Amino acid sequence: MKQCKITVFLKDLSIRFRKEVREGSLQATTTVVLCLSLVSFVVILAMFINNNVKKYLVSEDYSYYQLATVTPLSSRSPYPYFLCSSFLSPPSLQPLQFPITSLRDWVTPKELWHSMNDKELLWRASMVPHIDEYPYNRTPKVAFMFLTRGSLPLAPLWEMFFKGHEGLYSIYLHKSPEFTNQHPESSVFYQRQIPSKPAEWGRATMIDAERRLLANALLDFSNERFVLLSETCIPVFNFSTIYNYLMNSNQSFLGSFDDPRHMGRGRYNKRMRPTVTLSDWRKGSQWFEAHRKVAMEMVSDVKYYPVFRDHCRPPCYMDEHYFPTLVTKISPELNSNRSITWVDWSGGGSHPARFVRKDVSEAFLNQIRNGFICTYNGGITTVCFLFARKFHPSTLDPLLRIAPGLLGFRS
Ligand SMILES: *[C@@H]1O[C@H](CO)[C@@H](O)[C@H](O)[C@H]1NC(C)=O
Ligand SMILES: *[C@@H]1O[C@H](CO)[C@@H](O)[C@H](O)[C@H]1NC(C)=O
Ligand SMILES: *[C@@H]1O[C@H](CO)[C@@H](O)[C@H](O)[C@H]1NC(C)=O
Repeated sequence: MKQCKITVFLKDLSIRFRKEVREGSLQATTTVVLCLSLVSFVVILAMFINNNVKKYLVSEDYSYYQLATVTPLSSRSPYPYFLCSSFLSPPSLQPLQFPITSLRDWVTPKELWHSMNDKELLWRASMVPHIDEYPYNRTPKVAFMFLTRGSLPLAPLWEMFFKGHEGLYSIYLHKSPEFTNQHPESSVFYQRQIPSKPAEWGRATMIDAERRLLANALLDFSNERFVLLSETCIPVFNFSTIYNYLMNSNQSFLGSFDDPRHMGRGRYNKRMRPTVTLSDWRKGSQWFEAHRKVAMEMVSDVKYYPVFRDHCRPPCYMDEHYFPTLVTKISPELNSNRSITWVDWSGGGSHPARFVRKDVSEAFLNQIRNGFICTYNGGITTVCFLFARKFHPSTLDPLLRIAPGLLGFRS
């Protein structure tokens, strides 16, 4: 650019000079003045250019951008006119601002709170990378998703459970919005609450809450397995056992079966046809565990959700039918069809048994831990349940007493 202007100027000068010589009217003093002004002009020009070059070097962002787009033209360009015009209207010298955070911040958001609405959140969470290999060291985590009405009375037991396993789990809390109590800063539950909305048992709002939990947890690309838990749930094994059980399983654990009785098939509504037929219809526990792949399907479904929302209303309970049927329709081979959260229905009735202080003993917990037979990765095992529910707040004391020995929690 600079050469261009200098050339133009010198050409102009030499033409005038030669013209004056030809006319024979050249005075020695004029020559001296002219030469002096030429020298000072060149000096000023050099300073200006030098200053500009410095700016290129000092501002890194700018230099990358500029060097990449403009530099190749500066010396050997076949289009010198472009050079001149670009000099006449120089690009803005403001450093370019790239509002791009590091990949780490994007794949593992530190802040749980956000202003996305459900539609935006589900869409954002439904994104799947097309390159299988991660460009960073990914340690798979288990997402523990607590769907609660209010507080977590058994929190001290969970604190004990998680202790020493940082980096292998993520916690998400969905609470009724009227409960604003915060967990102390020292707690694993501190600031783990996601933007929540009221959820009613058996209604679509309950499914919305579960999908909201899944979607928030999916935003962290390290989360591999997703467990839904309530405030009455307890772990019946230590963290490493539960972590390995889930990570090594090639299936998800969503209870799903065909119940021929009126509380099963009897809840099916013919208006769901043809999207959902009676032979598709499944029932199962609300408390699921899902692999990332299945979790992705659960937040991305736009085909079955509206059918259930419109046609599964009490006495059809959406939280007992929607996911069990959806997974059977979409990826039956990825589901074990059994839940890993134990609950006692043996008393009959429409509610399972609730356990209080006097019910808790080592024998009782051992029965849940090893008293069943089921399949795991195609083999037979007696470890069928990793969690149990409904534990009243009064069970906390005996549980805290038994846990270190029986469950091997670090205290
Ligand atoms: C779970 O149920 C689905 C649908 O009925 C079936 O295709 C699948 O084989 C079942 N999985 C197991 C492990 O039994
Ligand atoms: C899970 O692993 C078992 C044992 O290797 C195998 O028989 C089964 O087909 C696998 N299931 C899936 C869905 O990959
Ligand atoms: C966790 O439990 C398993 C058995 O379930 C046991 O072998 C292991 O030692 C326990 N881990 C700790 C840290 O206590």
